[in-house]
Amino acid sequence: GLDIPDELHERTMGELQGGQKVRVLLAQALFGNPQALLLDEPTNHLDLDSIHWLKTFLNRYEGVLIVISHDRHFLNGVCTHIADIDYQTIITYTGSYDDMVVAKTQIRSQIEGQNAQREKKIAQLNEFIARFSAGTRSSQVQSRRKEVERLQVTELAKSNIQRPFLKFEQKRPSGKHIMELEGVTKSYGNAPVIRNFTASITRGEKIALMGRNGAGKTTLLNALLANSPTVPEAELRKTSGYDGEFLTEGKVIWGHEAAVGYFAQDHKALIQPGMTVFEWLHQWDPAAAHEEIRGLLGQMLFPRDDAEKRTDVLSGGEAARLIFCKLMLQKPNILVLDEPTNHLDLESINALNIALQRYPGTVLLVTHDEDLIDEVATRIWHFEADHKITDFKGAYEEYQAGVPA
Ligand SMILES: Nc1ncnc2c1ncn2[C@@H]1O[C@H](COP(=O)(O)OP(=O)(O)O)[C@@H](O)[C@H]1O
Ligand SMILES: [Mg+2]
Repeated sequence: GLDIPDELHERTMGELQGGQKVRVLLAQALFGNPQALLLDEPTNHLDLDSIHWLKTFLNRYEGVLIVISHDRHFLNGVCTHIADIDYQTIITYTGSYDDMVVAKTQIRSQIEGQNAQREKKIAQLNEFIARFSAGTRSSQVQSRRKEVERLQVTELAKSNIQRPFLKFEQKRPSGKHIMELEGVTKSYGNAPVIRNFTASITRGEKIALMGRNGAGKTTLLNALLANSPTVPEAELRKTSGYDGEFLTEGKVIWGHEAAVGYFAQDHKALIQPGMTVFEWLHQWDPAAAHEEIRGLLGQMLFPRDDAEKRTDVLSGGEAARLIFCKLMLQKPNILVLDEPTNHLDLESINALNIALQRYPGTVLLVTHDEDLIDEVATRIWHFEADHKITDFKGAYEEYQAGVPA
């Protein structure tokens, strides 16, 4: 009933793709008709088709669902209530994620207003205490001291959700023509992945590369980057783990003054162990002032002490945030991002969304995050099943509505 094809029934779990694996795990969870389902980040590493399938499935499910997810679009499409863990407590809001944000903003400004009043009161009392503690009004000072203690105890908790701040700038703009792709073709041995793709990219375009896992998105990016003037081949070998030819046939011609910043799908491969976070970042621009490096790290939620953290022990999310620091330091005029949201939480994905919308340069973005595609992309490259890529020069909404390109 979960659309797992017969021929897969005898395979081992390791052989299955992400979307198939989730279906099998769901089948297991659903065994015996449970009244409740608990899912911890079920959309991670799923492609959009599988996310859509899961959304439809969960909407039909009659029982209670508790789900953890960083995918705003998914949450909005599935949830009737949101439990927000913040201010050292959990508050449950009725409605979807977007409803929660609206309600929470109202509550937050109330709480912050109350906090501000308390702090003002404490400051006034403290001033009184300081002025008169040496004098004759000792009983009044005493009672005010008690009052301060009482206020401090009842002070409301502050929000502990941290928001990173992302801002991509270009050192200098590129020329108008970013890239010409002529008959780009790539096979691994006899297995074709991309067949004869021709396109040209103009400055300022934001292209979303969409398609199932294994469709060839990373393969295409490698073929483009292998010919780029700014991404070193050694870096590409490291992140792809591939030592063959990146391009089987065809041509990739980069335009004038193209400076590429690259976020690889396997971005952790680029962070060599044995140094501190600060040292790793500084190497990409040794001339940069220490304050700039620290500022960038702070912006991406590595406070002072974390700058000394070893690169060996970074989590997936920390590694991703560090790569973003590198991109902000390099200030490229073309951003090539391969599944950058896989390890990011919802706040960081929103920050990335806004930063990409505001970025004046050119973007090539692989993602399965529907809101990101919807809100950032001005052009869609859809990787189809027959190794062809559909090139749609318009937004995702128009593409879905079947508007002709
Ligand atoms: N180094 C490699 N050797 C052989 N096949 C590969 C290699 N890398 C990727 N492939 C195959 O190429 C196809 C496209 O992979 P990839 O570009 O990683 O897809 P996507 O990024 O869209 O998920 C897949 O079928 C994958 O198994
Ligand atoms: Mg990929």
